[in-house]
Amino acid sequence: MAAASDDASGAPAARSRDWDGATYDRIADPMTRWGADVLDRLPLRGDETVLDAGCGSGRVTERLLEQLPGGQVAAVDASPSMVEAAGRRLAPYGDRVRLVVADLGRPLPLPDASVDAVLSTATFHWVPDHEALFSNLAAVLVPGGRLVAQCGGAGNIARVRDAIRAAGDPWSGPWTFATPDETRARLERSGFRDVDVWLHDEPTRIDPGEPLREYLRTVVLGAHLDRRSADARASFVDAVAARLPDGVIDYVRLNIVATRG
Ligand SMILES: C[S@@+](CC[C@H](N)C(=O)[O-])C[C@H]1O[C@@H](n2cnc3c(N)ncnc32)[C@H](O)[C@@H]1O
Repeated sequence: MAAASDDASGAPAARSRDWDGATYDRIADPMTRWGADVLDRLPLRGDETVLDAGCGSGRVTERLLEQLPGGQVAAVDASPSMVEAAGRRLAPYGDRVRLVVADLGRPLPLPDASVDAVLSTATFHWVPDHEALFSNLAAVLVPGGRLVAQCGGAGNIARVRDAIRAAGDPWSGPWTFATPDETRARLERSGFRDVDVWLHDEPTRIDPGEPLREYLRTVVLGAHLDRRSADARASFVDAVAARLPDGVIDYVRLNIVATRG
């Protein structure tokens, strides 16, 4: 398995923040479940090269590799900790996986038209500029290749955002929760056709108490915590969790199926 960075100095050039890959790997059951459903929408022969755009700790990537007994995966993520965790999980797949630390908001360090399809789950809303994101994906996708993705969409985690504000942080967060219309237009401008985009609700309950606090800390609030001093982080997570007593996170997912023109 090859691991690479998109920075000639060897340091990760990604501008987005690092995650806790080992903890994410342990608690990412909701994202893994949704990812399996998204993967079912990607028709595969089994010998293709597929880009997993935002592979995280590799749990969905692993399922993708199982669908590609004669194929390869380029697993790209901006977080070195996530890529490290993915490296451990995906080691049995040897050189059928290429791990790359790279920012999807910048031109990708992959040759043009070098992948047959793109899969992406629970990632696009973390990338601020969707126009740049889709253009970067279009560049590496062969004409006729499929993009199948899901991320947070318009209205996602509105309840959690209210809880964040009520806990004293007015920042609207790092996320781009786009509508289907915005997304369709951006995809078409970036060279995609046969675009199908829709939203669905995915309310998800995490056990209140430490499981919810750990989930908020690891999956949802990382960018908010990075803006606070180390001593203020735990009390902020407690304050947000206290405002979600039933542990229900009101996820709204944006689903994307499109073809590279
Ligand atoms: C919630 S995780 C999803 C991981 C995996 N796809 C899954 O479904 O479990 C979001 C991932 O997006 C990655 N990410 C966020 N912004 C990114 C960017 N600009 N470029 C590449 N990856 C990014 C994070 O590092 C993180 O691994």
